[in-house]
Amino acid sequence: TGALRVALLGCGVVGTQVARVLTLHADAIAARVGAPVELVGIAVRDAGAPRDPAIDRALLTQDAEALVDAADIVVEVMGGTEPARSLLLRAIEGGAAVVTANKALLATDGPTLYSAADAAGVDIYFEAAVAGAIPIVRPVRESLAGDHVRKVLGIVNGTTNYVLDQMATTGLGLDEAVAQAQELGYAEADPTADVEGHDAAAKAAILASLAFHTRVSLDDVACEGITGITADDVAWAAQTGHAVKLLAIAERTAEGVSARVHPALVPLDHPLAGVRGAFNAVFVESELAGDLMFYGQGAGGAPTASAVMGDVVSAARHRVLGGKGPQESTYADLPVLPPSAA
Ligand code: NDP
Ligand code: HSE
Repeated sequence: TGALRVALLGCGVVGTQVARVLTLHADAIAARVGAPVELVGIAVRDAGAPRDPAIDRALLTQDAEALVDAADIVVEVMGGTEPARSLLLRAIEGGAAVVTANKALLATDGPTLYSAADAAGVDIYFEAAVAGAIPIVRPVRESLAGDHVRKVLGIVNGTTNYVLDQMATTGLGLDEAVAQAQELGYAEADPTADVEGHDAAAKAAILASLAFHTRVSLDDVACEGITGITADDVAWAAQTGHAVKLLAIAERTAEGVSARVHPALVPLDHPLAGVRGAFNAVFVESELAGDLMFYGQGAGGAPTASAVMGDVVSAARHRVLGGKGPQESTYADLPVLPPSAA
């Protein structure tokens, strides 16, 4: 079997770690896939900018379209809506499998990408789009596809959890804690997406769509972030035996599906109160499985690269052995309630 050509779109916090693994662990990945997996190029905005020493600068290009056209697997970790959306569609229409960490794009226009991938018969994988390193997309999308999920609830944004944790433990203000989260590589390019809850809402929309086999988009999620929360609020909560946590909740109700994101007071003896730093935790309640809990690092370059690489290996194995990843449900199981009714 010839080498599988991987195009990497983006070489920031996540892309750098993905490139490192593809380069430094090439032999191990090839052994797992059954064929060499070759990083053929890395699309960036500025090919002259300083990079991690493990990055082969000869791979950097500002011509993302040409790179996409030359690939078997396209890994999108550039973020934003455009050009990410057009590049992924171009990849799919050209017959490449795609892997993306772009929850903002999936939560607004995922169905366009899923339909295109199904029509082209190629894989679209997005484990890294929800809760960083935690395997949660695959369990909800595949392992629980024969169960009846009732509720998904948890902490799905590492930045806000880190910020609230810092406020509680060091008394730091929101802005300073956000600056730290940016330095640690947890925050979105524009951290208002984190603190205003939009990133968690995007993840809630993705999880709700997968869990309830219906189309939930970002606009369907009622959303309140943490910008109104002060260090004094967090200290008062601790005095009354609570931690402040930003929760994402998606559930079936008698009328349909509802999804929301908002800060909540969590009793200190609840497992969610013990989720520290940029860790995430997701609880799933379903009819047959009962209660499930998923926990791990929810943000950061290396943890997210773990999820991306799992998807790359799956897509690469399908190229070598045949087969294809899951298709999306093509019908709406339940009506989606408007955010105001949530
Ligand atoms: P960064 O901002 O660190 O990196 C973005 C990369 O994409 C940069 O290398 C940038 O190029 C490149 N890029 C951006 N726009 C373009 C463009 N128009 N053309 C070519 N290249 C472009 O982002 P992250 O690595 O933090 O995040 C990437 C994606 O992963 C996002 O969708 C994010 O939501 C998601 N994600 C991030 C996690 C995290 O913890 N950071 C966790 C889970 C998902 P240049 O270097 O030249 O500026
Ligand atoms: N900004 C996101 C977070 C990255 O803090 O959770 C992981 O999706």
